Amino acid sequence: MTANEPDDESTATKLADRRGQETNVYQPAEDSGLLADAAEEFARGRTLEVGTGSGWVAEQVGPHVPSVVAADVNPHACRQARERGIETVRTNLLDAFGDGSFDTVLFNPPYLPTDPENEWDDWMEQALSGGESGRELIAPFLDDLGRVLAPGGQALLLVSSLAGYEEVEELVRDAGFVPEEVRQESYPFETLSILRLTRFSICGKPSSGKIE
Ligand SMILES: C[S@@+](CC[C@H](N)C(=O)[O-])C[C@H]1O[C@@H](n2cnc3c(N)ncnc32)[C@H](O)[C@@H]1O
Repeated sequence: MTANEPDDESTATKLADRRGQETNVYQPAEDSGLLADAAEEFARGRTLEVGTGSGWVAEQVGPHVPSVVAADVNPHACRQARERGIETVRTNLLDAFGDGSFDTVLFNPPYLPTDPENEWDDWMEQALSGGESGRELIAPFLDDLGRVLAPGGQALLLVSSLAGYEEVEELVRDAGFVPEEVRQESYPFETLSILRLTRFSICGKPSSGKIE
């Protein structure tokens, strides 16, 4: 989400900039490229891209895995992804998918911390805004991730320093996953990372990691 963001602009203006470029569907930017690059190396098995936007990331990873499915809450995004030949489901986060359905889940979430007064009620705002904390979509995604992953499954999650790297790591651990940073790129106003999440396990058994 760093493309074309002038140096000293507020989050609200960044939203406006992006809004001016494309009003309905998030188009590939640096964050998309970083996720695609990590996915090309790490994705395996049945792969799902949550919040697919244009479908570009799913398209990039397709040749590297046996199957790829995309999902988005935005009907315009679903249409664009289908136009790329990607099987796409319109759903909120992981709601439409059954238990243990995927070996790899990819997510570049909306993460810009946004004052509610500066949000627009449109699809582009939904693609960018992570609510006041920047983590409002990340938390429910992590809460449901373990359900849709097959045993031994993994996720690749894009994290921006704007959403609070340490806070996201804590959410990841609380959800029972171990985060490993597999990509990092710094820009003038944010650092983007890709975390590879695998289940925390004790003696080979999945665990929340919490000692009762
Ligand atoms: C930052 S964009 C990423 C788009 C694309 N994956 C990429 O990397 O270029 C975030 C995407 O998440 C989608 N999204 C937002 N809220 C969602 C939700 N509750 N469930 C599913 N997708 C959602 C948006 O519509 C948008 O397409």
